[in-house]
Amino acid sequence: MDKPIGVFDSGIGGLTVLKELTEMLPHENFIYVADSINAPYGPRTRSEIIKFSSRIIDFLIQKSCKAIVIACNTATAAAVHDMRRKYKIPIIGLEPAVKPACLATKTGHVGVLATAGTFRGNHFKTTSDKYKDYVALHLQVAKGLLELAEKGVFKGPIVEELISRYMAPMHDKNVDQLVLGCTHYPLFKEVISDIAGEQISIIDSGEAVARRTKDVLMTNKILNTESNVQKLRFYSTMGEVALKNVLLNLFEMGQNKPVVEIISI
Ligand code: DGL
Repeated sequence: MDKPIGVFDSGIGGLTVLKELTEMLPHENFIYVADSINAPYGPRTRSEIIKFSSRIIDFLIQKSCKAIVIACNTATAAAVHDMRRKYKIPIIGLEPAVKPACLATKTGHVGVLATAGTFRGNHFKTTSDKYKDYVALHLQVAKGLLELAEKGVFKGPIVEELISRYMAPMHDKNVDQLVLGCTHYPLFKEVISDIAGEQISIIDSGEAVARRTKDVLMTNKILNTESNVQKLRFYSTMGEVALKNVLLNLFEMGQNKPVVEIISI
């Protein structure tokens, strides 16, 4: 039961999902893999993303993981179906929170920031098609933010300049709900909220995916109900500095310094 849950992303963005998972599932252990050497996944082909995802899931299964959370919208869009066919353990994916945003909008205008790969995916098309008669979706590929996050830059003039550029059309269109459709973007939430202003609510998928993971663990009878001091392990395919900084910011690490092992898979 105390086997870990594997969580991965193209980089450090999935830590925003891991944070929600650790809170929703306090008795579970987690292993996180940041595939930073191959980031960004956004411009990659589907078959490349399937190959990267398979390598990471093989690694996580070797580490005895009992379930996998793909904490990356782009990898989910490209690979979740293939991964579910290939592996027996439960695999939970993630998609932009378009549904809650469309249900909450009062102006009828919803903005979505994500990667080109996520916008191309079937999940996104199916969900947005459901609301297209009632809500206008304004899609924006937020190029450059992931690269800044991977370098550990979350605020300052370059970040503000980029976010202002992406938010300008949202303001023009009277958007009142902004979906962060990439797990890296909540790392910029402070600047995004400042620039978006009070009239725009910001929604990400972290809490919803944590809830879904709990349901899947319960359905598969693999939820750890015994009390357990949560253990977290971190691996990266390149660099550790940005990951460690985010860990220190997002997680209560107490006296413990985060340990990140560099792997080549
Ligand atoms: N965090 C990933 C996502 O949610 C980043 C995508 C990328 O690597 O381009 O989509």
